[in-house]
Amino acid sequence: MQIIDGKEISNRVKERVKAEAIALKDMGITPTLAVILVGEDKASQTYVASKEKSTIACEMGSVAHKLPESTTQDELLALIELLNADDSIDGILVQLPLPKHIDSNKILEAIDPSKDVDGFHPINVGKLNSGLDGFVPCTPLGIMELLKEYNIEVSGKNAVVIGRSNIVGKPMAALLLNAGATVTIAHSKTKDLAKVCQNAQIIVVAVGKPNFLTADMVNDGAVVIDVGINRLDNGKLVGDCDYDNVAPKCSMITPVPGGVGPMTIAMLLSNTLKSAKNRKLKG
Ligand code: GUN
Repeated sequence: MQIIDGKEISNRVKERVKAEAIALKDMGITPTLAVILVGEDKASQTYVASKEKSTIACEMGSVAHKLPESTTQDELLALIELLNADDSIDGILVQLPLPKHIDSNKILEAIDPSKDVDGFHPINVGKLNSGLDGFVPCTPLGIMELLKEYNIEVSGKNAVVIGRSNIVGKPMAALLLNAGATVTIAHSKTKDLAKVCQNAQIIVVAVGKPNFLTADMVNDGAVVIDVGINRLDNGKLVGDCDYDNVAPKCSMITPVPGGVGPMTIAMLLSNTLKSAKNRKLKG
């Protein structure tokens, strides 16, 4: 059994991004990411701080807009319009979840698809599903990078994605399908999940429940990718998988922390660089 080192691979991605960002700077281009945070959610504040820090560490520009919980939908839309029109901004990220009085779909649709580094705009969702080049959501894109770096063959494999969110499950399934896997998307209504999983050589679990994926569900030699980040009452961070019992059955597995988690920000930086190159080097 091999442990997939997401920290190491994310550092490699960040080094590549940094080197390219420095080369662009010499041409007068600073790839710049604008992050919008609405409200006081502690986890979101931590994520946004981490995104700002990593952006700066990769020699890119970081602009943060921290807005109060009382911000109206129209005020947020007005800010997005300004950022869409600002040529110095290459990427726009609105941290989710948004307060309940704001319609997330309306906000995500307002972002210029050419600056949508999260890949959540319907245009980019459509491109992914059509196999066209666009922005791909960062967590599933990071998982594909891990599979590539560890030479895990996807084509012809049975893959099960557990979870059907727009952020992880659905784009993950599309990427695996585009790469030639036979993909099953399982979710809370799926009957006999254990049987579905036992048929898979690749399992991606993204449900947000500790110990959800148990050893009896996993085929010998399977690759298990654990997207969960769950904080237990004792403060310990765990994934969605019963790691101690599942890991011995796997050929490879991502740990939590240090697996998928670090890849998300690395791919956000990679997407921001891609946007700057698309917008400022081409045509
Ligand atoms: N909230 C949880 N994950 C994400 C993400 O990937 N992007 C954004 N914008 N918000 C999130």
